[in-house]
Amino acid sequence: MNFELTEDQLLIQEMVREFAATEVAPIAAEIDRDHRFPAELIPKMAKLNIMGVPFPEEYGGAGADNVSYAVVLEELARVCASTAIIVSGHTSLATWPIFEFGTPAQKEKYARKLADGTMLGAFALTEPGAGTDAAAGKATAELVGDDYVLNGSKIFITNGAHADLFIVTAMTNPAAGTRGISAFVVDKDAPGLSVGEEEHKMGIKASSTTPLYFSDCHIPKEALLGQEGKGFKIAMATLDGGRIGVAAQALGIAQGALDAAIAYAKERVQFGKPIGTLQAIQWMLADMATEIDAARLLVYRAAWYEDNGLPYGIASSMAKLFASETATRVAGKAIQIHGGYGYTESYPVERAYRDAKVTELYEGTSEVQRMVIAGSLLR
Ligand code: CAA
Repeated sequence: MNFELTEDQLLIQEMVREFAATEVAPIAAEIDRDHRFPAELIPKMAKLNIMGVPFPEEYGGAGADNVSYAVVLEELARVCASTAIIVSGHTSLATWPIFEFGTPAQKEKYARKLADGTMLGAFALTEPGAGTDAAAGKATAELVGDDYVLNGSKIFITNGAHADLFIVTAMTNPAAGTRGISAFVVDKDAPGLSVGEEEHKMGIKASSTTPLYFSDCHIPKEALLGQEGKGFKIAMATLDGGRIGVAAQALGIAQGALDAAIAYAKERVQFGKPIGTLQAIQWMLADMATEIDAARLLVYRAAWYEDNGLPYGIASSMAKLFASETATRVAGKAIQIHGGYGYTESYPVERAYRDAKVTELYEGTSEVQRMVIAGSLLR
């Protein structure tokens, strides 16, 4: 067993840490305050292969492993959770399923442009009446001649207003339950597709989250991803990897909050000495660091399982469950250490606290992760 990152993984970590410090950290508070999608970061990240970390170099990716990808998301989220989810939604939820399930023609058309960051992707599963119960979606896709015709709506789509393509699930056979759901690759310009207004969220405010509306939206039948009726399994398999991404994002948020709390504990003087000399503060820092370490082990293990061809769905759910709840707890303690200052926008920990919460919600709530884990225990 080896707990160290490899030389290649360390090089990627160093590169992204440097990028995050010089290009992302300086704008992180501003893009959060202004709810501004940092479009200017996408070409910069693309240049460093950050938009396609785990995909082959011949397709424009970095040709790196999933542990490296987790490290990349962690480093981005350490300074800006919005930037991390832009990359994670694009990579895990849109690019991965095309590499995994796409036809040669779909790969030819999209895979390179997604992996090299020329195109931005998004994933559209959730509907107003189908969140945790993802199979309850009402959107339909009917084969009419050479086209599928999509009708219905999707909500909470990460990258919604900026994506060039969407992986969309819709019912092709409503009588067949989950086996009647199919997945499609839909171009943003498909006639009959419109993108709705941005959500006003508690955190990750610089990421785009919109509904999508399909009104007799015609897409060619070649847009089917995988086989008809396999869309639910494709979505679930996609989320197995996506959840490692969210777990890595949560880990980065937690680490960023701990970094800020340590710096503050050293500099803030009360009772004539730095508050870091007080045991009340030391115990909080110790608990935070320990939980982060445990989360990191779970996150890297899940990614390592994926890299090594092992089943990783349960490991991914465990990593997301623990890392996301850790992020919320750690960010809360980081505010506590900062006292009243931590509750203001002058310090990054209030943003970390707001950003952490969503990691317990999207790509399956903590309750969904517990359902998945418990299901595997009782099978
Ligand atoms: N991989 C492959 N197949 C899977 C699977 C997986 N991980 N999990 C389930 N399946 C298959 C099952 O084997 C079953 O197949 P058969 O028909 O052959 O038996 C089929 O899918 C149905 O499985 P279940 O009966 O377990 O499905 P369910 O309806 O009970 O749902 C659930 C289970 C875990 C609750 C699921 O609905 C779920 O994960 N819900 C949460 C959805 C979610 O995470 N949404 C996030 C939206 S995306 C988002 O947030 C992205 C963003 O923008 C950031």
